[in-house]
Amino acid sequence: MKRVNIGLLGMGNIGTGTYKTLEMNRAGIEARTGLDLRITRILEIDTERDRGVSVSKDSFTQDPDSIFSDPEISIVIELLGGVEPATSFMLAAMNGGKSVVTANKAAVAANYEALTEAAAKNGVQFRFEASVGGGIPILTALTGALLANEYTEIMGILNGTTNYILTKMTQEGRAYEEALAEAQAKGFAEADPTADVEGTDVANKLAILLSLAFGKRVRPEEIPTKGISQITKEDIEEARSQGCVIKLIASAFYADGKLKYFISPTYMHETHPLAGVSNEFNAVFVKGNAVGELMFYGKGAGPLPTGSAVMGDVIEIARSL
Ligand code: HSE
Repeated sequence: MKRVNIGLLGMGNIGTGTYKTLEMNRAGIEARTGLDLRITRILEIDTERDRGVSVSKDSFTQDPDSIFSDPEISIVIELLGGVEPATSFMLAAMNGGKSVVTANKAAVAANYEALTEAAAKNGVQFRFEASVGGGIPILTALTGALLANEYTEIMGILNGTTNYILTKMTQEGRAYEEALAEAQAKGFAEADPTADVEGTDVANKLAILLSLAFGKRVRPEEIPTKGISQITKEDIEEARSQGCVIKLIASAFYADGKLKYFISPTYMHETHPLAGVSNEFNAVFVKGNAVGELMFYGKGAGPLPTGSAVMGDVIEIARSL
């Protein structure tokens, strides 16, 4: 059995989901891969919270350098969220010779070049599958199995919180604030849910997709973005009267030879496949010039779906060590 030690930065909702994913599936992971994966150090201030998992108090540290300089640790998982100090920590980890896995779309979208260049310079891996679409393996597909294609269009629902709110308002007539509070309680929302409801979170994700699928580096704030905070019950009823539902859609496509992209609440006819994507589920349509149309569907937010994507990246790296 190959033992691989891991440092974890942040044990909030997603950190806990990642830890749980590893613990609940440890036996199977070991049997399938021959890997003994151990989260040996955790950067976290809150050592008392009951997370429903058993973590040795000795694992906790409040000194990030104790992780970056630990010669026994080969992989660092960053789940702090936010651009800083997360970016500096990821760079420090890679400069210390460790591969990095993150779910942090804000940091990846803001500092894509610096992070990927640090990985190349240090001969380590930098993987961020969980940053777009939660549990959906969309980045691995775009940069792996579909690499033979030129992409012509990507369109989808990329935020679980807003899709949950719109679903509850549409299907159950619930109030916006009530549905948002529920999405927060379920661990779907960002620490500051403004990023969800104003579309910033989707802009981060679309910026990452633009980099990977189209080789187009766009800062998230340059993407025309409208969120759902102004959507009312009346808007939803108006859409319904036209046989439609409102979805927060991210879109990138070529028109007249130019790449266009935007994020906006959009009427989707109820017969459209995206109209049936409910609650925290995400879906991504991809058009490739060889493969044609594809649709990826799954849970786009939540501790375990995101933990699944994080651990998938960890296992890929650990296999190659
Ligand atoms: N707040 C995000 C969402 C988490 O609701 O989709 C997953 O990126």
